[in-house]
Amino acid sequence: MTRSLTHSVGITATGQFYPERIVTNKDIAAMVDTTDEWITTRTGIHQRRWVEPGVGSSDLGAAALKMALANRGVGADTLDAIVACTVTPDMMFPCTAALIQDKVGASKAYGFDLNAACSSFLFGLSTAAAMVASGAVQRVAVVGCDVMTSIMNPQDRNTVVLFGDGAGAVIVERVEEGYGILDFENRVDGSGAPYLCMPAGGSRKPASAETVAAGEHYIHQQGQEVFKNAVREMAEVSRLMLDRNGVDPKDLGLFIPHQANHRIMEAAAKRLELPAERMANNITQYANTTSATLPTALHQSLEAGKVKKGDYIVFAAFGAGFTWGGMLMKWAY
Ligand SMILES: CC(C)(COP(=O)(O)OP(=O)(O)OC[C@H]1O[C@@H](n2cnc3c(N)ncnc32)[C@H](O)[C@@H]1OP(=O)(O)O)[C@@H](O)C(=O)NCCC(=O)NCCS
Repeated sequence: MTRSLTHSVGITATGQFYPERIVTNKDIAAMVDTTDEWITTRTGIHQRRWVEPGVGSSDLGAAALKMALANRGVGADTLDAIVACTVTPDMMFPCTAALIQDKVGASKAYGFDLNAACSSFLFGLSTAAAMVASGAVQRVAVVGCDVMTSIMNPQDRNTVVLFGDGAGAVIVERVEEGYGILDFENRVDGSGAPYLCMPAGGSRKPASAETVAAGEHYIHQQGQEVFKNAVREMAEVSRLMLDRNGVDPKDLGLFIPHQANHRIMEAAAKRLELPAERMANNITQYANTTSATLPTALHQSLEAGKVKKGDYIVFAAFGAGFTWGGMLMKWAY
């Protein structure tokens, strides 16, 4: 699917939230048969944040959204809608957006959840942009929040090293003409479903004592298959964003890839001929936070003064489904 925005719409503020507890590679090596050296060289991850028991994605998402609203200088009651992007909702229902709405006091907003795995935030952002461009709503919050520890097998060294908990939020509204989201491309190929999934706990295989005993309520992944698809598709869709809009890679201000594995990110950046300093990186400190990687990496780049008005930014994401996509923005503030 390609974009067709009738008005200039963009991000006008960002926020983030991580739980306090830091879990290092050494901590993980005390849990499963792995080493700091293996994790660092194979993934680029040094540490991650994990929630304490009882904390849900809506808690992280609400905190990130409060920061985004404060940065925008507006109250929660000015929001028309909340799109909560997550693969780890607090509960099957009600939706996480409803819980966030209540926690931030967004009294006039409606909301819904969007799940496209690690592409959730990107798909949520393009959806929100289309909602605003249509004129139906004026101000939408897109919140990427995940508690990945809730679906990770603490005994599986293939996955326990990879993920962290966190949340990022952005405010989406009309911006100056010619700025904001210039283009996007969202894709899905469901034949990739077996390679990365949580087999039980849904309608086809409801949770039972047997599914829990078999560990089917955890992430199941064939890492190499995911790896090679992620590199190819993130690179291709990013290149498409540039080519289709006549932007030379050397004029790209910032490349923000989904933070899945540093080797995946580097390979995608290399195919775009981008130097490492123009690629956002927070995987080293926070690991893969699924729906939160893109908004937190953007927020941190803004905080570090790496983005100025008029800069071209490309988002690229890849996740279970398979789902993937890219977005080109011209920074609006
Ligand atoms: C998971 C991933 C890090 C594994 O790295 P890899 O280089 O592909 O490693 P492999 O799966 O080939 O495993 C190589 C060896 O390391 C071992 N290994 C796997 N995890 C390990 C760990 N945590 N510590 C030590 N050894 C480990 C494997 O058992 C295997 O051993 P063997 O050769 O004796 O069989 C990598 O495939 C990856 O990042 N994939 C994408 C994951 C992802 O991004 N998921 C989210 C999608 S959005």
